[in-house]
Amino acid sequence: MTKIRINTINKYYVHLEKNSDNLTNILADYQNRKFLIISDENVWREQGENLIKSFKDNSFEYDKVVLKPGEETKSLETCNRIYYELSKRNMTRSDILVAFGGGVVGDLTGFVASTYLRGIKFIQIPTSLLAQADSSIGGKVGVNLPQGKNLVGSFYNPEFVYINTAFLNSLDEKEWNNGMAEIIKAGLIKDKYLFEQIDKLNKNELMENILELLYLALEVKRKLVEEDFRDTGSRMLLNFGHTFGHAFEKQANFKNLRHGEAVGLGMIVALLIGEQRNFHSKEIREKLTKNLFKIGLPINYKKYLNKETFDILLKDKKIINGFLNMILLKDIGNSVIEKIALDDIGEVKKCLL
Ligand SMILES: NC(=O)c1ccc[n+]([C@@H]2O[C@H](COP(=O)([O-])OP(=O)(O)OC[C@H]3O[C@@H](n4cnc5c(N)ncnc54)[C@H](O)[C@@H]3O)[C@@H](O)[C@H]2O)c1
Ligand SMILES: [Zn+2]
Repeated sequence: MTKIRINTINKYYVHLEKNSDNLTNILADYQNRKFLIISDENVWREQGENLIKSFKDNSFEYDKVVLKPGEETKSLETCNRIYYELSKRNMTRSDILVAFGGGVVGDLTGFVASTYLRGIKFIQIPTSLLAQADSSIGGKVGVNLPQGKNLVGSFYNPEFVYINTAFLNSLDEKEWNNGMAEIIKAGLIKDKYLFEQIDKLNKNELMENILELLYLALEVKRKLVEEDFRDTGSRMLLNFGHTFGHAFEKQANFKNLRHGEAVGLGMIVALLIGEQRNFHSKEIREKLTKNLFKIGLPINYKKYLNKETFDILLKDKKIINGFLNMILLKDIGNSVIEKIALDDIGEVKKCLL
């Protein structure tokens, strides 16, 4: 088992493992608590038994709330339901919520934990590749409003994160690809070695070596989160590919394009802009496109990139004080925050469309 220590406002460990199962031992430190596990129907059906074994082995008192899968579940209505379940069981600040699922369950459970009784303990056990590579660390928790995604939230860290890649066995391929996009992103912004590894391996080898890739991607995120927990500076580098990616997701109504797929296309566009500015050659974009294609992620950014994309960017308050903050690369593993003046956006648009 590997451990990563995250040093932010409070310190916690990310435990990473592949074939072993140390959750029972890790949980043994939490005697005499009540646990409420939050999960979704898919995850519970496929992996529930594998999880509760560790609670049973410790003779722990636990219960579960299994939610409908999907982004709609990440809402204030679901928070209310969980608040009700917590109060019904008289759970206190020393009791523990367990987020067992993808990013939806993680963000939602973390937000409930951060607000119930002004903060109760919670544990992250991510089961999707996206959640294992990205959303389960960094402390961002929250829910959606009808007006938009992630509009309500806070920064709140778990007791620990437990990542076991065995949970990924039941994940479908599209979801797996989705998470790979964020791992590629981590390599491009901060870790040339990680990107080279991805470039070198075929799809089966990527799956076989997922633990090492996850470790490297989490190290990239750890460093940025430790430097800038509240996301006002260097942490923004994690948004590489997300400016256009978010716009593409919107254009596809969050249905026909998954987050990772949109981020992959957004990274291609960010590299095109870098080329226009002579930050780097087109070789990086060619390599990225080759790797997205190898994994099975879409590469046809022209399908989405149009006038509407720019309308969304301008409307989405991505413009701050007259500038659009874009993350661009100088090289593989070297990223910068570039402020593009509103006046120059017309020029960018002309070159891209
Ligand atoms: N907090 C952060 O820093 C952060 C970062 C990135 C994304 N997010 C959030 O994460 C969410 C997306 O996360 P996601 O992609 O994991 O989506 P998700 O939680 O909806 O999971 C995707 C699908 O995979 C299924 N699934 C998950 N694990 C499985 C398993 N082991 N076996 C079978 N099926 C499984 C789920 O039931 C779901 O249908 C979004 O709400 C996004 O805003 C948060
Ligand atoms: Zn993302």
